[in-house]
Amino acid sequence: MRIDVVSIFPEYLAALDLSLIGKARASGLLDLTVHDLRDFTTDRHRTVDDTPYGGGAGMVMKPEPWAQALTAVLDGEGGAADPGGTTAGDQRRPVLIIPSPAGEVFRQATAHELAETDHLVFACGRYEGIDERVALWAAERFDVRPMSIGDYVLNGGEVATLAMVEAIVRLIPGVIGNPGSLTEESHADGLLEYPMYTKPASWRGLDVPDVLLSGDHGRIARWRHEQQLTRTAERRPDLLPPPA
Ligand code: ADE
Repeated sequence: MRIDVVSIFPEYLAALDLSLIGKARASGLLDLTVHDLRDFTTDRHRTVDDTPYGGGAGMVMKPEPWAQALTAVLDGEGGAADPGGTTAGDQRRPVLIIPSPAGEVFRQATAHELAETDHLVFACGRYEGIDERVALWAAERFDVRPMSIGDYVLNGGEVATLAMVEAIVRLIPGVIGNPGSLTEESHADGLLEYPMYTKPASWRGLDVPDVLLSGDHGRIARWRHEQQLTRTAERRPDLLPPPA
């Protein structure tokens, strides 16, 4: 998979060199490049923002640096030798994710869907966001997906991009050593994960539930499923199907 991230704070994305994502890059499973939006400006001050039409607080990101940056990202894709890669309706169109609190909510199902794509591009906005025409312009070249990581407001798209890239990349086959861990975690089956324990069996007066020491795999599986239901009902009742 190829991932490009465009940001005015490329240093924010340095964490993508670490841990599982860093290893995926080193092993060639992931080809990830971070681009500085200011490299695509033409004025002496490398300006990326301007005042909003219609008034209001804050600044808006100018469209032209984005068009230049996204065109450069596409040119690095194989250019004229791969024209089908950017035509409307082609499965291989790159996906442009625009992190925004006004986007569709990014869920585990979204991570699975995006883990299947060849090329993801993240456009990290700052200030009050990116001029709306960038998404319209980009829709001729990309599948554009404004995405929110939750109902709260961050200062920009970088932290949201880190979260989404991590959630997606760990699902690429070969990135996680033991694929079994992907099927037993929260959200894999629509429920929250059951509680986990390790040694010692008794710690500071707190004991591991007896059933987990029983060696009875059927009982353990039933107990874990009950725990998932109880936990989900307590913490995330919205995830449970409505009573029939
Ligand atoms: N940018 C600012 N807030 C955001 C959020 N909640 N999700 C994605 N991008 C954002």
